[in-house]
Amino acid sequence: MSQLIIANWKSHLSQAQALAWLDEWAKKWQPAAEQTVVVAPPFSLVGALDWYAAHQSHFSAEQQAAFKLAVQDLSPFPAGAYTGAISIENLQGFAVKYALVGHSERRRYFHETNQEVANKVEQALAAGITPVVCVDRDYLTSQAATLSSKEWAKCVIAYEPLEAIGTGSRQPAAEVEPVVAEIKAQFGKVPVVYGGSVDADSAAEYAGVVDGLLVGGQSLKPDSFNGIVKNFRK
Ligand code: PGA
Repeated sequence: MSQLIIANWKSHLSQAQALAWLDEWAKKWQPAAEQTVVVAPPFSLVGALDWYAAHQSHFSAEQQAAFKLAVQDLSPFPAGAYTGAISIENLQGFAVKYALVGHSERRRYFHETNQEVANKVEQALAAGITPVVCVDRDYLTSQAATLSSKEWAKCVIAYEPLEAIGTGSRQPAAEVEPVVAEIKAQFGKVPVVYGGSVDADSAAEYAGVVDGLLVGGQSLKPDSFNGIVKNFRK
C-alpha cells in the first residue's frame, strides 16, 4: 500500500529558510518505493519550491519522482474578483498535486464551514488536484454529507483530532484505528492519514493503521521530518 507523508509548514519559514530546508532535505532524504513525500508551504513559497524540485541539480531523479507539492488552502471560488484568495487558475503552471482543505485552524480562525470546504474540494478536483480533507470526529458525518461519493472517492481524508494538533499530545494509534474504520464507512475506501503531534519516535506506531501522516511542528526541521518518514516505513 502506498504511503503519503505530508509536511504542513503552516505560516512558518521565510524563502531563505525554505531553500535551506530543501538543501538539507536533498542531502538526507532517501526515497523508498511506495512512499510519497509532500510539502505544503505557505502560498508565497509555492513558486520557489516548484522551481527547486524541478531541477536535478537539486533533487535526484528518484527524489523528484517521490516529492510532491501541496497548498495549505484554496479559494472556494473560481478565478475572479476575490481579493486575497488563491484560485486554481493562480496555481496553473506549478506542479501542485494536493491541497489541504478544511484544516481545523482554517475552521477555527477563519470560520470555514463544511460547505466552503466542499466548494474547495470541487475547485481542486476541477484542476486535477487531490484534496486532503481534514476532519475531526465531530464533523465527520456533516462534512461527508456535502459532496457525492464519487467526489469523495478522489480525496484523501486527514483525521486530525483537535486536542492532538500542536499540543504534543498525540492520539495513540489504537484509538485512531476505529476512527479510520468510521471514516472509511462515511467516505468510502479513501486513503486516510493521521495528523496531530506525530514525531520520529511515534511515527512507526501508525504505520499499519493509516495510509500516511500529516505533520506540522516536526516537519519544520529536515532532520526530525526525515526521522518520521523513515520510521513510518517500518
Ligand atoms: P502538529 O500539526 O504535527 O504540529 O500537531 C499537525 C497539523 O496541524 O496538521
